[in-house]
Amino acid sequence: MDPPNPTRLAALLSLRVAVFLLASLLASPAAAHNDHGLHRNYLIIVRTPYEYDRDLFKDVSSWHASLLASVCDMAEEELDKDPSAMARLIYSYRHVVNGFAARLTDEEVRAMESRDWFVKAIPEKTYRLMTTHTPQMLGLTGKAFHGGLWGKSNMGEGIIIGVLDDGIRPGHPSFDATGMKPPPAKWKGRCDFNSSVCNNKLIGARSFYESAKWKWQGIDDPVLPVSEGSHGTHTSSTAAGAFVPGANVMGNGLGTASGMAPRAHIALYQVCFEDKGCDRDDILAALDDAVEEGVDVLSLSLGDDEAGDFAYDPIALGGYTAIMKGVFVSAAGGNMGPQHATVANEAPWLLTVAAATTDRRFVVSVKLGNGVELDGESLFQPKDFLSMQRPLVRDLSDGTCSDEKVLTPQNVGGKIVVCDAGGNFTALEMGAALREAGAAGMVVINIQEFGSVIQPKAHALPASQVPYSVGQKIRAYMNSTDDATGELIFKGTVLGNRDSPVVAAFSSRGPSKQNQGILKPDITGPGVNIIAGVPRPAGLMTPPNPLAANFDILSGTSMATPHLSGIAAVIKKAHPTWSPAAIKSALITTADTTDHRRKPIAAHDGYPANLLTLGAGFVNPMKALRPGLVYNLSAADYVPYLCGLRYSDHEINSIIHPLPPVSCAQMPLVAQKDLNYPSITAFLDQAPYVVTVSREVTNVGRARSVYVAQVEVPSLLSVTVTPDTLRFTKVNEAKRFTVTIRPAGARKEKGIAEGQLKWVSHKNVVRTPILVSYRKFVQDNSSTAHLTH
Ligand SMILES: *[C@@H]1O[C@H](CO)[C@@H](O)[C@H](O)[C@H]1NC(C)=O
Ligand SMILES: *[C@@H]1O[C@H](CO)[C@@H](O)[C@H](O)[C@H]1NC(C)=O
Ligand SMILES: *[C@@H]1O[C@H](CO)[C@@H](O)[C@H](O)[C@H]1NC(C)=O
Ligand SMILES: *[C@@H]1O[C@H](CO)[C@@H](O)[C@H](O)[C@H]1NC(C)=O
Ligand SMILES: *[C@@H]1O[C@H](CO)[C@@H](O)[C@H](O)[C@H]1NC(C)=O
Repeated sequence: MDPPNPTRLAALLSLRVAVFLLASLLASPAAAHNDHGLHRNYLIIVRTPYEYDRDLFKDVSSWHASLLASVCDMAEEELDKDPSAMARLIYSYRHVVNGFAARLTDEEVRAMESRDWFVKAIPEKTYRLMTTHTPQMLGLTGKAFHGGLWGKSNMGEGIIIGVLDDGIRPGHPSFDATGMKPPPAKWKGRCDFNSSVCNNKLIGARSFYESAKWKWQGIDDPVLPVSEGSHGTHTSSTAAGAFVPGANVMGNGLGTASGMAPRAHIALYQVCFEDKGCDRDDILAALDDAVEEGVDVLSLSLGDDEAGDFAYDPIALGGYTAIMKGVFVSAAGGNMGPQHATVANEAPWLLTVAAATTDRRFVVSVKLGNGVELDGESLFQPKDFLSMQRPLVRDLSDGTCSDEKVLTPQNVGGKIVVCDAGGNFTALEMGAALREAGAAGMVVINIQEFGSVIQPKAHALPASQVPYSVGQKIRAYMNSTDDATGELIFKGTVLGNRDSPVVAAFSSRGPSKQNQGILKPDITGPGVNIIAGVPRPAGLMTPPNPLAANFDILSGTSMATPHLSGIAAVIKKAHPTWSPAAIKSALITTADTTDHRRKPIAAHDGYPANLLTLGAGFVNPMKALRPGLVYNLSAADYVPYLCGLRYSDHEINSIIHPLPPVSCAQMPLVAQKDLNYPSITAFLDQAPYVVTVSREVTNVGRARSVYVAQVEVPSLLSVTVTPDTLRFTKVNEAKRFTVTIRPAGARKEKGIAEGQLKWVSHKNVVRTPILVSYRKFVQDNSSTAHLTH
């Protein structure tokens, strides 16, 4: 046995205090907010070799409490006076990270830094939900998404999707349990609503606020996981909502709403609070419990736009624990586009999701006096609007219809007013002001940055929101005549927009900042103007019918993420033994690269979306069910990769906790290019300007199958695949190959080239996107950045 070390002694000495601490925690669940500005929330990461002594401490939590007590500036008399003052341990983590969350003073943090068990104290941090604006809408359509998926896969029956979000509206028709079987026996979660509220659809609902309650006013025990906000209900119903037939959008677009996996179970973990955000340490606690309770898929429509180090980011940490237990994790890429290097949730073990339009529009055409008809959109589609040419006029202030002084009945009464978006008024406020002044209608010209993508709103008066390019045509017509006229023609819900999908401007772009050698985002899903369940539509005064009161339209990578979570649930149901990496590979290698016109999928600006915008492509669920080959990875395969990123042993051990501690010195490092990822990123930035990447594919299709390599790259690149034919004789057989990439002629000094490798068999095309850059995207000094401990 080891000689007792100072930590053990400290632990022994503090045992009494630790036990007291736990008792006081139990005795006073509703700890008072004793925040006098001295204590702040920290996440404390501890060294793995100091994993607790099971003879000394009954569980990891009492060990964490003892570490905490050993530095807390807390005389015993004080404790006796005010036991709640010792309620400093907020969470003790079991799976997601080797550490705990606690309330500490600056002095206590300094005292900790000298302890040999200490790695890092990270101040509290707030994460965000990834929705964009919240236009108001009601009703639904439920166009079957890539029809035919469900018949073959049982709609995700028996699969549990864990959703971390704000609260949920129990009793919503999307969470009706008719026809649902009870959850599988492995399910250990619980429902903190009154027992009648949960059912076989909504099988779990809990709120995590132990850290948030110290930060934000108005979060008082107990917090039920209910929210009057829309987000959690919307994402949950998108992932796995039940069928809700027969509603409508103000008389338009009859349809049936449902989630992507309508027979999957939902477990909601509330970690976000309306108008406040999501506390990092609450997110970690929810993930700690979710993986233990038995979820199969995690849907994370939240994140931090300043994408952080994997060793300290709750989604990277919790996501790793999840994949270690076979749980698939789908996470929002963020809404900070269209600038590059904005993507969030970029760890290679996560599926990082971008957002695009669907083929559904709510069309209002603007017919100009010269006969030209141009399309825009609005959610307000009046039935009784008298369609006729009316005067089409400018706003007499700066054009943004934001100055009520000039929006007078004299200037705008009976007319259609053309307004530029981007002024002091939102489009909804413009509409309200114009209606007040008696205008007949409104045309809102989108800001240029949004390109062709419209997020229609329910305006107070007849209106059409048009793209910037359409707006310029309207302005040019108005310039050409002294008596311009226009007419608004309401066309309702129009499906089959052949330009779709189009990647939204807001969707965050790669490259990844933490691992630029991995293509992020991974994939694109529907995330613009998504109709799903909400407690009640924002801003709507009188819903036209009862079902319309339960649905709303939201946009964001938050909305794209649960689509992928639901589809992953369906794949998991069809292939229960596949690893999270295999499911991810299936999604990535089968994604579509062309739109409904068979042209390359465009970004908001009308140009083809590049790989850093679109990822591999737009999800194709039917094809993802039968990918033929997959690029597989086990959780342990990421360890030499993290070593290759130059993380320190301590950082790696906090990520891969609770795997046994590892040392990078004892293993070959894996370069980013060689991680067995379903996309390839290569940098031709240094002599000899040749990159060889290695990969391994596993046969999940027909036992006997032959795949031949087809490379499609611009002529300035030369790419060879060795071997160029793969012959499989068994299912689950794996074969290795290498891809060598070099310039074909003179080396270009900068820029990006894109292409693809396709493994083609009689049945399957397995597409691997290839991104080649002649320069590193970000300064690569990770070799020093991570050697802090
Ligand atoms: C739970 O039950 C209590 C007592 O019956 C009631 O006051 C409360 O409103 C219920 N909460 C929910 C979410 O149903
Ligand atoms: C917008 O509001 C700001 C602050 O009230 C004001 O200074 C500015 O002039 C306004 N701009 C327009 C275009 O009305
Ligand atoms: C319309 O005329 C205005 C004022 O002359 C000018 O600034 C603007 O560029 C013109 N717009 C178009 C689209 O021609
Ligand atoms: C992938 O790897 C995991 C972990 O090694 C293994 O369990 C699984 O069977 C492999 N194959 C597939 C298709 O997931
Ligand atoms: C990376 O290197 C540059 C220049 O050598 C330095 O200014 C910067 O602080 C470094 N960044 C990190 C994260 O170490």
